[in-house]
Amino acid sequence: MKAITAFGSAILVVLALLQPLFAADDPLLPKIPPAAGDKCVRPTDEMRVNHMKYILHQRDLTMHKGIRTEQFSLKKCINCHVMPNADGSYPSVKTKEHFCAACHQYAAVRIDCFECHVDKPESAFATNETDQVNPDGH
Ligand code: HEC
Ligand code: HEC
Ligand code: HEC
Repeated sequence: MKAITAFGSAILVVLALLQPLFAADDPLLPKIPPAAGDKCVRPTDEMRVNHMKYILHQRDLTMHKGIRTEQFSLKKCINCHVMPNADGSYPSVKTKEHFCAACHQYAAVRIDCFECHVDKPESAFATNETDQVNPDGH
């Protein structure tokens, strides 16, 4: 009896150690594409929870008070977070391969930001003469 219990708890320990691997491979969880750079503008855990507050706040500051700070620029988010596919094309925000859609599709969150803002990084454009935003404004 004693031996079985010890064996049982050894299995539990192994399972606990493997848990992160199972989670990473779980097809039911969103697969978040990797980012460029070594860290985000704020700690990752915090960004996961609060990113919307930062960019909405940033947008309000920019649009209504004419203040433009770089830290929470949407353009910068896209520059780091949207990487080219192997064939050089870029994922559209309409697909879950796009960073901003990976979780949103999973969590059924809808945002309209990309009706005006481009969903690709600046490096996707041959020239930088295109203004990346629809001139109609918010
Ligand atoms: C109707 C078009 C439109 C929509 C929809 C829209 N924006 Fe904008 N946004 C603009 C324009 C125009 C500017 C000002 C141009 C600029 O600053 O480059 C701007 C500026 C910004 C900026 C400051 C500039 C930058 O790149 O950081 C942020 C941040 C921003 N928007 C975030 C958002 C977010 C988040 C959403 C979705 C919740 C959103 N916008 C939806 C048109 C739009
Ligand atoms: C300098 C490059 C860079 C910029 C700019 C940047 N990020 Fe990040 N971001 C990262 C890196 C690197 C991570 C960590 C990824 C990881 O741990 O796998 C990250 C993590 C995140 C995460 C958590 C992802 C996860 O795996 O759960 C979110 C959400 C996020 N960023 C949103 C944003 C938003 C919104 C902006 C714009 C305000 C932004 N980031 C700007 C590089 C950047
Ligand atoms: C790690 C997962 C994850 C990633 C990656 C992510 N989001 Fe989100 N986002 C969420 C979740 C979950 C919510 C809903 C939070 C809530 O309702 O409280 C949300 C909400 C938002 C909202 C507010 C929507 C609303 O109407 O309230 C905006 C704006 C937003 N995200 C923008 C972005 C942008 C832009 C990117 C890419 C740069 C991005 N998110 C990447 C998980 C993510």
